[in-house]
Amino acid sequence: MILKDKVAVIYGAGGGIGGAVARAFAREGAKVRLTGHHRAAVEAVAKDIVSAGGSAEAAEVDALNEEAIDKHLQSVVGKAGRVDISFNAVGIPDAKLLGVPLVELDLEHFSLPLTGYATSYFLTARLAARRMIANKSGVIMTVSALHSRTGLPLVGGYGPAQAAKEALTRDLSAELAPHGIRVVGLRPQAMLETRTIKNAFEPRAKATGMTWEQWQQMLASRTHGKRLMTLEEMANVAAFVASDKASGMTGTTVNLTMGSLDD
Ligand SMILES: NC(=O)c1ccc[n+]([C@@H]2O[C@H](COP(=O)([O-])OP(=O)(O)OC[C@H]3O[C@@H](n4cnc5c(N)ncnc54)[C@H](OP(=O)(O)O)[C@@H]3O)[C@@H](O)[C@H]2O)c1
Repeated sequence: MILKDKVAVIYGAGGGIGGAVARAFAREGAKVRLTGHHRAAVEAVAKDIVSAGGSAEAAEVDALNEEAIDKHLQSVVGKAGRVDISFNAVGIPDAKLLGVPLVELDLEHFSLPLTGYATSYFLTARLAARRMIANKSGVIMTVSALHSRTGLPLVGGYGPAQAAKEALTRDLSAELAPHGIRVVGLRPQAMLETRTIKNAFEPRAKATGMTWEQWQQMLASRTHGKRLMTLEEMANVAAFVASDKASGMTGTTVNLTMGSLDD
């Protein structure tokens, strides 16, 4: 168990990536503290983990609200004594953000992913780091996407938002690594089990005259192995990166695009 007794807080834990990472962390022995802004989804994940023998607690926390994040961390540290891992897997809803050409996009919809993702990542990282500095140890993680490094049409402010997350990962690491805190991002390719991918790509497939199945094959054909990653494969990498086995890794985003995007 590479995360035995580590205390991990996960934001957006009711979602596809957050839920898979929570399960993988718990399988590796971590005590997972799951948060989301709708309690039911997070509680369902916590229940699964506890019935499989893991340690999980669920809480309603808006990951864009400084006071709520701080209060929750206070209670985690109050009970467990520390926080070892902070993982931000929040997904800003894509409705009205994708599918509109940039020349037709209004400022509000362009800005929403930029301010939303940057705000949430900044707040969750900063508030966790304040606790981690005291222990001279910790790992802060988030998830980006290949849009950070590839020009793609009809994605509005989503690409710049992913690039901002990766820049913040580097800058946080530059400041926090001297305090014993590692900061690492994950950049997965599309994982087909998630609702995000279907919601984001199905309309684009239709608009280009492709079926959803043809679109999936097109995405897979861009990887070296001609297949897309599963949630479990991504979550296993997340657990390794969060563990002490990755002690030499900080200030970087792990390219999980399986060859779709060269380094
Ligand atoms: N899925 C993929 O294959 C993939 C690939 C690359 C990158 N990504 C990126 O990874 C992130 C997560 O993706 P996902 O597929 O896991 O998305 P998801 O299934 O939609 O999960 C996102 C989670 O974030 C929660 N959330 C949204 N706003 C929140 C807030 N203010 N406070 C707390 N929780 C909040 C959602 O809660 P509610 O459901 O209750 O609103 C949901 O549980 C996104 O940035 C996505 O773009 C995903």
